[in-house]
Amino acid sequence: MALIIVVGGSGQHASVVYEAAVLSGMAVAGLAAMDAAAVAPAFDCPWLGSLGAIADGGIARGDRFIAACGSNALRREISETLLAWGAELASVVHPAAIVSPSACIGAGTAVLAGAIIGPRAVLGCGVIVNHAASVDHDGAVGDYGNLCPGARLAGGVRMAPGGFVGINAAVLPGLYLAENAVVGAGAVVTRDVAADDTVVGIPAVSVRRGRP
Ligand SMILES: CC(C)(COP(=O)(O)OP(=O)(O)OC[C@H]1O[C@@H](n2cnc3c(N)ncnc32)[C@H](O)[C@@H]1OP(=O)(O)O)[C@@H](O)C(=O)NCCC(=O)NCCS
Repeated sequence: MALIIVVGGSGQHASVVYEAAVLSGMAVAGLAAMDAAAVAPAFDCPWLGSLGAIADGGIARGDRFIAACGSNALRREISETLLAWGAELASVVHPAAIVSPSACIGAGTAVLAGAIIGPRAVLGCGVIVNHAASVDHDGAVGDYGNLCPGARLAGGVRMAPGGFVGINAAVLPGLYLAENAVVGAGAVVTRDVAADDTVVGIPAVSVRRGRP
């Protein structure tokens, strides 16, 4: 069963997922897009073009898929479309990531080089745990969440679906980040974060409530 990486946006994140998949020994069929007009991103990987043809022909041909883009909303949209077509989503774990045997990783999730997933941590579907990010013991990252490079969730932190934690931000133990919460790069989060809130700084404070 080969992996098809479905690109959204510029394809930069897809290049990272592609490399992780290849290095982890997965057979990668190539890159594809939902959009028939999409062009191949500029890195060396087979380009399969639009997925529309696959949908028309019935997707049950044994391939597996992962949506690869940094936007949580777009990753969700692509993944949900694929699931509605009956496709199977695959997770990709870079061989240089450390994942506890008691952790649970959802379908369509990417755990990238240097990431650490601690004991009993649970990652939902379509999550990104980017380079050197970590989810400590008993943590939870809801569907389509995104931990940017170097982001740190301490033990027992729970992130509801759609959350975003910027580069090198830290979230202190046991806190709760509600749906679509955004933590700015370099922040230290010392309190729970409300749904759709954006917090920045040390200690992190809200700069905008409500969806962007
Ligand atoms: C937090 C963030 C999402 C806010 O973006 P935004 O909604 O466009 O907000 P703005 O840029 O308008 O900034 C709002 C205010 O917060 C400040 N601010 C923004 N990000 C900040 C940060 N990370 N730390 C401290 N202050 C920050 C801005 O200076 C601005 O302050 P001002 O109103 O006094 O001028 C963004 O700045 C950020 O940190 N993104 C993380 C990016 C990242 O890690 N990418 C990795 C990709 S792999």
